[in-house]
Amino acid sequence: MISTDPIQPFILNQWVLLALICIVILYSVLSRRISKLPRIPLNLFLVYLLLRFIISLFGAHLPVNTIKWTKAVSLIVLYCFFARIVFALTVETWFSIKKYSAFPKITRDFILFFCYAIIVFVVLRGHGVNPVGLITTSAVLTAVIGLAAQNTLGNIFAGLALQIERPYSIGEWIKYGDQDGLVVGIGWKSTRLKTFDDEIVYVPNLDIAKTVLKNFSKPTRRHFMKISIGVDYDSAPNHVRSVLLSVLQEDKRVLQDPSPQVRLIDYGDFAITYQVRFAYEDYGTQPELRASIMNMFWYSLKRNGIKIPFPIRDTRLIHVERKFDTARLDDERKAARAELNSIPILAPLPSPARDAIIKDMHIARYGGGETIVRQGEAGDSMYIVHSGLCEVFVQKGGDTPFLVATLAPPSFFGEMSLLTGEPRSATVRAKQDSVLFKIDKELFKSVLVADPSISESLAQVLVERQAKTAQTIDAQLGNIRVQTSSMLRKIKSFFSV
Ligand code: CMP
Repeated sequence: MISTDPIQPFILNQWVLLALICIVILYSVLSRRISKLPRIPLNLFLVYLLLRFIISLFGAHLPVNTIKWTKAVSLIVLYCFFARIVFALTVETWFSIKKYSAFPKITRDFILFFCYAIIVFVVLRGHGVNPVGLITTSAVLTAVIGLAAQNTLGNIFAGLALQIERPYSIGEWIKYGDQDGLVVGIGWKSTRLKTFDDEIVYVPNLDIAKTVLKNFSKPTRRHFMKISIGVDYDSAPNHVRSVLLSVLQEDKRVLQDPSPQVRLIDYGDFAITYQVRFAYEDYGTQPELRASIMNMFWYSLKRNGIKIPFPIRDTRLIHVERKFDTARLDDERKAARAELNSIPILAPLPSPARDAIIKDMHIARYGGGETIVRQGEAGDSMYIVHSGLCEVFVQKGGDTPFLVATLAPPSFFGEMSLLTGEPRSATVRAKQDSVLFKIDKELFKSVLVADPSISESLAQVLVERQAKTAQTIDAQLGNIRVQTSSMLRKIKSFFSV
């Protein structure tokens, strides 16, 4: 029969109780703020101490029966606290070590509910009350409450079923109806989802249990993205496929194993539709990754002369479009002529050679962040920066690449591989959207025939650039060395070693 208080002999008077209450409150507050302090569920103990404090203060003035029942309640609270502590130290600790995650809240509450019910039962029996009779007499009341709380109870049981089946856990991305969200909390009544727009959606557990649910983070966090894109009928499928695949190879977030796929899926009214499918980690990055890939598709397709068509219903429109394209190209080539004049090494070229460049060069558009040439790769073309800004990076050993130059119009790059046949000496990346004129080997040959002195000027630029690159890298390495030794000095003086 449980009716004696095991702590009672140790509690001397209300001052000791008051001190204990303060300690418990202080610890609860501190453990919430200091992550290193273990969180101990002390709430029940606090309630117990408060009840004992009330008894010790007003015990002499209260009726005997009130004292008796307050003591009984305090005893129930104390034993519930013991049960809670034992559960936390055994089951919860074991679970967190084994599974690296917190014990499911609903299952814990359910188990504790039964333990608490047994404690109430035993303590009441110890005080001469028959809880079974109490439950029977209140059956009508229970039925009324049960009917009123039908929905809430439904949610609670659905929550319990979700805990047992575990179709999702905290930190996983799920789709419920047309709502995507990251699971941030699973409660008795509802599951909390955080959407891409940083909103919290409370979904009743009962609704989740009833509908089809998609988990994007199971069995693995890897997920596939599909993007459909339509291109014009004039572009050969293999060419389109290789252009789209090259974009997917560029982005580090796109997994290469399993390899990305491009499938031709439809010959539509005015476009051939391709479906791009690739794997990536973490559904949470989906909107941003999709936008960035679509963005790069535009530049890459444009550069490779592949059009993304819009509905064409009238032959006149094709005609107008062609005329517009021709006019735009004419404008760009006119601008190119001025550009060539402003580049010192190309300025002395005779007019026919310049005309040849303007006629045969390729106009390429790059989006900010795209790589134009990559260090170590083979290359047989040079580029003139017509608009935008390009950055030149040189990688030395395992170090992070050094920025050696920023090229604005009118400037050029790529002459080193074109002249020497060696792999690219640097990586050049568009810093902003840039339009470049690309001169390949054949075209360059015809220019050299027209004016052989060009190769001398280019060779001079080449040597100057090599020297500048070496100088810039040395300066930056020197800087790093100075910073490292000054940091080392600081550390040594701090530890007095
Ligand atoms: P290439 O080696 O063909 O490809 C990378 C290009 O970066 C290289 O030709 C040069 O045109 C350019 N490059 C390398 N170093 C510099 C530099 N220090 N200043 C400007 N451009 C450079």
